[in-house]
Amino acid sequence: MRGGTQEITDLILNAKERAIKETSHEPEPELTQPQKWPINCTVGPGLEGAIACETKVGYVNGAKGWLIYRGYNIFDLCAYSTFEEVSYLLLHGLLPTATQLEAFKKKLVQYAHIPYTKRLLLSFPVEKMNPMAVLRLGTSFMRQEFTDVESEDYIADTVRIINADEDSIPMETKPMGEEHAIYEFRREEREKKIRDELKGAGGDESCHHLLAGVASVMAAAARLRAGGYPLEPDPELSFAANLLYMMNGKVPSPLEERIMDVALILHADHGMNASTFASMVVASTLSDIYLSVGAGIAALQGPLHGGANEKVIEMFHEIGTEAQVKAWFEKKRAAKEKIMGFGHRVYKAYDPRARVLAPLAEYMSNKSPEGKKMFGIAKALENEVVSTLGSEKKIFPNVDFYSGIVYTCMGIAPEFFTPIFAVSRVAGWTARVQEYLKNNRIFRPRAMYLGAFDKEYTPLEQRGNEKKD
Ligand code: ACO
Repeated sequence: MRGGTQEITDLILNAKERAIKETSHEPEPELTQPQKWPINCTVGPGLEGAIACETKVGYVNGAKGWLIYRGYNIFDLCAYSTFEEVSYLLLHGLLPTATQLEAFKKKLVQYAHIPYTKRLLLSFPVEKMNPMAVLRLGTSFMRQEFTDVESEDYIADTVRIINADEDSIPMETKPMGEEHAIYEFRREEREKKIRDELKGAGGDESCHHLLAGVASVMAAAARLRAGGYPLEPDPELSFAANLLYMMNGKVPSPLEERIMDVALILHADHGMNASTFASMVVASTLSDIYLSVGAGIAALQGPLHGGANEKVIEMFHEIGTEAQVKAWFEKKRAAKEKIMGFGHRVYKAYDPRARVLAPLAEYMSNKSPEGKKMFGIAKALENEVVSTLGSEKKIFPNVDFYSGIVYTCMGIAPEFFTPIFAVSRVAGWTARVQEYLKNNRIFRPRAMYLGAFDKEYTPLEQRGNEKKD
């Protein structure tokens, strides 16, 4: 399908074959037919088992290890599709025609141009900030600059203020290896058009804007952290290639582009996970899509969710060598500590995303001694964990276990693993928010109140001896 990366396609299709073979005996899925509300379901702590809404966006089956976007299984999408197609599919419900795809790609390049957001970011110590915090900040700036959510006047004022101090910005020196190091602050006509299209911070256009813009913010954060200036997208490049280009200032090889594309496809959507739920909760109050995506970014950052990929690499460094894996794991197991990159609320079989990422990590890691060493540790740790906790508690590697190795082999710094995840997951967050809003009902679960009821109010001077419940 794509020049020079047939080997990657073969690895993905092999992973698909193994997945089918290993899980074919598992029972067929339940709860895939319309139910009458209210639904009876057993709910555990952390809303385990709770059914909160209906969806056609995507489906995760934990027993079979299935991940499906709009009817297509993740292996086929990784093998044959692209991130542009997949995000269009998630948002619009169907794979695009050639004309639709072309228009969508053009739009993404247009919306990747977020000059004022980048400009505002430059006034913050972005290089010292957690990149996920930068992404959140970036979505707020995108909302403010490119929509009229607050008022038309605000935008006009912002433009004037920016113009006034433009001279104080130093000229960019061309970073090494770059062909197109152009950073433009102003393109008035184009921006006016974008602002008109995005009026109101809702609808499909805002989703497209976020999809492209969050990628630009992420790449800008990477550039600023590395001591460079943000780059403009190259309209000739794919979404995946542009992401790498805007981060590194170098057009990636077809292999790097393909691997990034597959990684983006794998992370684009995943049921009612914590960050998706967070963005849906915010949207259900009729807040807007920019703030909803900001909530998703915040929730994704934590190490129990998307933040685990960065922790996995720290863990490999802590382990040190393949020979130390067994002793390290035994110690952690005895202390009942969680192993980063393993376990999942839904998957009780091997996570299909890890099935794809493991062979890609092996393929990429073979190209360097450091990569080989890291993959050796990972594989040995997987064997230890799966041979003990696999049968005991159905604990297998999750999406975050091998992704970090893939990114490390591509020269990406660990603090950008979770932001890359976020860039891709914007597709799932926005698709699910849009779907939910068609039939919106504010999310409002309950808690079990275990406190007291009949305490007598104690005056200030008599307090101090009371015990906390
Ligand atoms: N290592 C060791 N044991 C584990 C692990 C792990 N990574 N994950 C779960 N377990 C054990 C728990 O100790 C628990 O054992 P117990 O029943 O004897 O007490 C049992 O498996 C169930 O675990 P819970 O924590 O109840 O599972 P939950 O569904 O609440 O949590 C989670 C899921 C957060 C992913 C958990 O597995 C974990 O913390 N993993 C490590 C962090 C990680 O990799 N997160 C990324 C997940 S993928 C994503 O969000 C993109």
